[in-house]
Amino acid sequence: MSYYVTTPIYYVNAQPHLGHAYTTIAADVLARHMRQRGEDVFFLTGTDEHGEPVALAAEREGVTPKELSDRNAARFEALMPQLEASNDFFIRTSDPRHGARVQEVMQRVHDNGYTYLGTYEGWYCPRCADFKSENEIAEGNTCPIHHIPLDREQEENWFFRLSAFQEPLERLLAEGSGFVAPVARLNEARAFVEQGLRDVSLSRGKLTWGVPVPWDPDHVFYVWFDALLNYVTALGFGSRDGRDVTDTFWPADVHLIGKDILKFHAVYWPALLLAAGLELPRRLFVHGFLLMDGEKMSKSLGNVLDPFAVMERFGTDALRFYCFREVSFGQDGSVSTAGFEARYESELANDYGNLASRTLAMIARYRDGVVPQAAVDPELAAAFGGLAQEVAALLDRVELSQTLELIWQRVRRLNRYVEERAPWALAKDPAQADALDRTLASLAEGLRAVTVLLHPYMPASTRKLLDALGRPELSYDGASLAAHGWDGAVAKLEPLFPKAQ
Ligand code: MSP
Repeated sequence: MSYYVTTPIYYVNAQPHLGHAYTTIAADVLARHMRQRGEDVFFLTGTDEHGEPVALAAEREGVTPKELSDRNAARFEALMPQLEASNDFFIRTSDPRHGARVQEVMQRVHDNGYTYLGTYEGWYCPRCADFKSENEIAEGNTCPIHHIPLDREQEENWFFRLSAFQEPLERLLAEGSGFVAPVARLNEARAFVEQGLRDVSLSRGKLTWGVPVPWDPDHVFYVWFDALLNYVTALGFGSRDGRDVTDTFWPADVHLIGKDILKFHAVYWPALLLAAGLELPRRLFVHGFLLMDGEKMSKSLGNVLDPFAVMERFGTDALRFYCFREVSFGQDGSVSTAGFEARYESELANDYGNLASRTLAMIARYRDGVVPQAAVDPELAAAFGGLAQEVAALLDRVELSQTLELIWQRVRRLNRYVEERAPWALAKDPAQADALDRTLASLAEGLRAVTVLLHPYMPASTRKLLDALGRPELSYDGASLAAHGWDGAVAKLEPLFPKAQ
């Protein structure tokens, strides 16, 4: 089966920051997990390069919008391997292949009768690139997000007949619909639609930095329409072998987005697809914001949780882990350097890192590095029963934090198992040789299984550990405990998460 996951495409007028890393890592966890399950995966990310915010930033810096985009898109593209993101393609909306496909789709929308020429008058935020409706305007005609004065705009625009989709959107977003998760965000989108949809601008006549409207080349498409279409256009030219893979991957299985761009994805996007006669994505998952204010100072990381500093000092896996551990995915929550260091120490270094080190060390010490041929302890087998299936079901619903918690309970269970069985005591008594065999085999197998499950979250360290165990297979078949498959010796391993000096 195929699985298509996307991130929003990032504005090139900002520097990459933790918020961008967050959505990207989330999508990567899903992509890696689905690959383990043997799915044919396409994972897309990229940059959003057109529109007024970019044109304005370029003007301020005295460069062309294309120059600014090239420079900043390169920063986002370089971020991907740093995050260990396994994206299949990186789309840039200034790519002419994207523009050509945007024009094709929009021409269909036009031919289907969903556009008209009109005059727009209203309040516009140049930073959001968004025309605000009455209830989206803060006091003194300011933008509630950017707190800057809104511009009163009057211009001749092409309009999109969003209002024609009132009923289909009400149906799509009806209570109980799985189209948007979490449910609070579904309700928010429905409330927006229930206020009554008004037509929206589709083009801008004053701008030149964008995709030209094919039937009226003095206009360029309003950046959000151009941007949203990346999810479809990329499939036309972004596959590794250059084939058009639209039929294989569209509709997308999940678009991951932050809560600030819900309206565009839950309302405009399905309406646009319907207008073009294209299928709708299966679901949107909306995550919250990582809040970084008012935090305590940490000893080694300073004050602001800078993802680059974290990755450099503690490794990418630690950042990836922390993102879903500290804040429940889907909710808002605070992150801090002090919080990061506390979890690194207690969960990565102690719970998991130590479990790995001592398991390998005991196998080396008591059995010359060879995992004994013995059945898994029934007690431990019971604790792992059904886990792989539960994880798969939760990740089908994009429950990234719940999943990690479920796996972590098993990491802790394995630590308790070590304490309960006390292999060091068994090793002193030759009559307990079988019990020691069983204990070590169970530990090795449990550690291997949690590590396979943790792989999407922490790809580098889990790979190291599986290699040291001599069991590098990542396939999901290995995510449950099994009684076979061990031969050869385990290797030594440096601490996966060394404690800070
Ligand atoms: N270019 C648009 C998206 C177009 S998609 C067709 C855009 N770009 S963005 O760069 O501003 O934001 C990209 C993503 O980063 C959004 O999902 C946004 O929610 C997320 N984040 C930005 N800051 C964030 C936090 N502090 N915390 C979590 N995510 C946040 O919007």
